[in-house]
Amino acid sequence: MKEVGENISLKSYNTFGLDAYAKYFAEPCSKNEIKDLLQSHLKDIQPKLILGEGSNILFNGDFNGLIIKPSIKGIEIIKDTSEQVYLRVGSGENWDGFVQFCVENNYGGIENLSFIPGTVGASPVQNIGAYGVEVKDLIDSVETIDSKTLETKIFHANECQFGYRTSLFKETLKNRSIITMVVFRLEKEPRFVTHYGSIGKELDKYPETNIKNIREVVVKIRKQKLPDPKELGNAGSFFKNPVVSLETLEYIKKFYPKVPYWESDSEKVKLSAAWLIETCQWKSKKIGDAGTYRKQPLVIVNYGHASANDILTLAGKIQKAVKNHFAIQLEPEVNII
Ligand code: FAD
Ligand code: EPU
Repeated sequence: MKEVGENISLKSYNTFGLDAYAKYFAEPCSKNEIKDLLQSHLKDIQPKLILGEGSNILFNGDFNGLIIKPSIKGIEIIKDTSEQVYLRVGSGENWDGFVQFCVENNYGGIENLSFIPGTVGASPVQNIGAYGVEVKDLIDSVETIDSKTLETKIFHANECQFGYRTSLFKETLKNRSIITMVVFRLEKEPRFVTHYGSIGKELDKYPETNIKNIREVVVKIRKQKLPDPKELGNAGSFFKNPVVSLETLEYIKKFYPKVPYWESDSEKVKLSAAWLIETCQWKSKKIGDAGTYRKQPLVIVNYGHASANDILTLAGKIQKAVKNHFAIQLEPEVNII
């Protein structure tokens, strides 16, 4: 483990590019190093925060506790059958690096999740999803260390309480269970998921549909729509898409017959937060240096020197506008620390 740092700038550790400081910052590279840290003189420091690549975090001020950034690396095949392959992956691996590895080896199912920033360890936390696929469909199990008891525990996928942008690790076990490894189950003869947005249309330009081409199309669409955090600080969608009752949908349809929505289950539908925000005239708006992105208003961007306060003020005004106009409460997806 690198030496534990004190008063460390977090500017390069969050994709909003906000300048906050951590009192203590440690980057353990193995399970043993995590356990050593949790038994060291820092064991009683509170609060503790587990950090990946900071692509879904908003630091609202300095962090006066211990940040643990697990940097466990490695991709290992632990089971290989004629149909599936099981890969055990260190939580500190970069997510898209892992997706690329799978696609190059023709392990399918993961290709729609190409180009999502962050680490493998964070992927189960909010059950990352894109273009019709959620990571819960690929996860076999999640290995953790309990930061209080130091107990090692393996959660099978059906114990993780996965839902749309949520899991046990984002709720009850937030900042308590340190995810060390994730086991994924991938397909050697994948079923392609091509129904979302313009994926199908883009694929028509290729001679065949395969996972390499799907990855290429997803990366292309994402580059067109989403801001690159290296150029414009952001953390992806700031809010979740709201899940509402059929009655709410029917009411909105009276005024907006073309409201976009997707079935969530038999009694609920998911609305587009981007559409709600745009309809409330909050697309391409700015407060200080914080603004809604011109191509996708669900993404709040830092135009250079935004403070956490600018971003939260803008988010609050958007929530208020959507609440006043549609009686819908937008919930943040981003973790506000
Ligand atoms: P961080 O932001 O560092 O942490 C996120 C949460 O996970 C925190 O609560 C943290 O405490 C916890 N955590 C992190 N690592 C661990 C660990 N090892 N053990 C326990 N808890 C941990 N998300 C999507 O779902 N779909 C998208 O399409 C998508 N697109 C994005 C596009 C852009 C441009 C950006 C900037 C973000 C996007 N996101 C998307 C959000 C983000 O990429 C994901 O949430 C990602 O999984 C965060 O990974 P991270 O390593 O940066 O986690
Ligand atoms: N829309 C607008 N105006 C816009 C952009 C979009 O009205 O400017 C409407 C359109 O009707 C469009 C719909 O919103 O069809 C959906 O847009 P998009 O495909 O961009 O997806 P999203 O619902 O806004 C979600 C995820 C993204 C994920 C994409 C693709 C959430 C909160 N966000 O966004 O995830 O990449 O779908 O699957 O579920 C993230 O979580 O950080 C993230 C970027």
